Amino acid sequence: MSDFHRPLPQRHELARRFDAVRAHTLALVETLSPEDQSAQSMPDASPAKWHQAHTTWFFEALLLRPHLSGYQPLDERYHYLFNSYYEGLGPRHPRPQRGLLTRPSLAQVRRYREHVEAHLHQLIEQCSDALWPQVSDTLELGLQHEQQHQELILTDALHLLSCHPWRPALLMHPPMERRVTPMGWCSHPGGLVEIGHAGGGFAFDNEGPRHRVWLEPYEIADRLVSCGDYLRFIEDGGYQEPRWWLSEGWATVQAQQWKAPVYWLEDGDIGDNSPSSESSRSVGDSATATALRADHGTSGHGARWSVFGLQGVQPLDPAAPVMNLSFYEAAAYAEWAGARLPSEAEWEAAIGLPGMQQLWDQAWQWTRSAYHPYPGFRPIEGVASEYNGKFMVGQLVLRGGSLATPPGHTRPTYRNFFPPGARWQFSGLRLARDAS
Ligand code: AVJ
Ligand code: FE
Repeated sequence: MSDFHRPLPQRHELARRFDAVRAHTLALVETLSPEDQSAQSMPDASPAKWHQAHTTWFFEALLLRPHLSGYQPLDERYHYLFNSYYEGLGPRHPRPQRGLLTRPSLAQVRRYREHVEAHLHQLIEQCSDALWPQVSDTLELGLQHEQQHQELILTDALHLLSCHPWRPALLMHPPMERRVTPMGWCSHPGGLVEIGHAGGGFAFDNEGPRHRVWLEPYEIADRLVSCGDYLRFIEDGGYQEPRWWLSEGWATVQAQQWKAPVYWLEDGDIGDNSPSSESSRSVGDSATATALRADHGTSGHGARWSVFGLQGVQPLDPAAPVMNLSFYEAAAYAEWAGARLPSEAEWEAAIGLPGMQQLWDQAWQWTRSAYHPYPGFRPIEGVASEYNGKFMVGQLVLRGGSLATPPGHTRPTYRNFFPPGARWQFSGLRLARDAS
């Protein structure tokens, strides 16, 4: 987003950041085999190989082709394969069929990355001072874009691995130890507040302009809803009781036979917990299953739960924030709890309140706000005008950030968005209620 409050970045600084972001993408896929990286588990999720190529294509299509004179693409045909949704850049391969792209190979995609990286460095060094403001803005957008795809690589790979009976782990390190505090409420007096990006530093176009919003007095929870909290909803028959659910949500519960969050597994349904994708240990290994089943995931009613996540299948941790929830499930839980979801303005206005925890580092938080343009919204200029604005219908805003969001990527005004039925993101919830 062009912004005159922002000093022009130094060329060498941006070049160094470019290298760091690109390297981070490769680090994320280290535990995935080439086969893991080329499969597509559902139309909404893309293969890791495709993400690596698409983020590269973005720099090529928006920077190298228009601005580096004499640039020769590695392969002209990649332009069609790796365009995601930009009508202004021509026709593209259908999204649900990205998993059929067994060519180019992963090795060739890596060569594509190197080709574009070398030429991007050339552009950074050679572009005129007159062009640098525009080039550096688009380069920054490309970096932020790649960071968005870094989270998508993890959410999409997790979904893929959840479909494998071994349920392999994506990360090597064990889950963190957690303690949970009883949920408390933070009060906001309401009134006239300002939300949205104020300038200074990068923001996506959808975060502005900053504008005034009127809030009634409200309270917002000081932490996220935990797996222990959510388990009580399940054990109270939450998934069998239409009164908690929005009509669309209830229809989905019935049609899809939802009984719990998408990655929760009932006792016995234990996968392979090894981070190695080549492990030969099979489902039902009785020592593993018994160890994992011991003493977890019950609050006294007999059902025992495990949760599939980045570290494979782990005993349900009652202190961990519940995640991989749809908006429907989040809204139903809030209703059952005698509360509601916050609006995005309530969420943003609450950031400074003392005691607020788990804002950015655990799970995106569904809000009750539709993903609409802010008053005065103007998309970014040029081809990138398609980046956010055209998706502003039929989706809900999520605020915060998750354990899969790259460090430094999110901020108080960040607006993530997904359709209400989406369950494969790291999405959870924080409760709110009207002040009594
Ligand atoms: C903001 C995560 C909904 O997944 O399409 C990626 C991010 N935008 N490439 C999405 C994005 C362009 C976007 N979300
Ligand atoms: Fe993209």
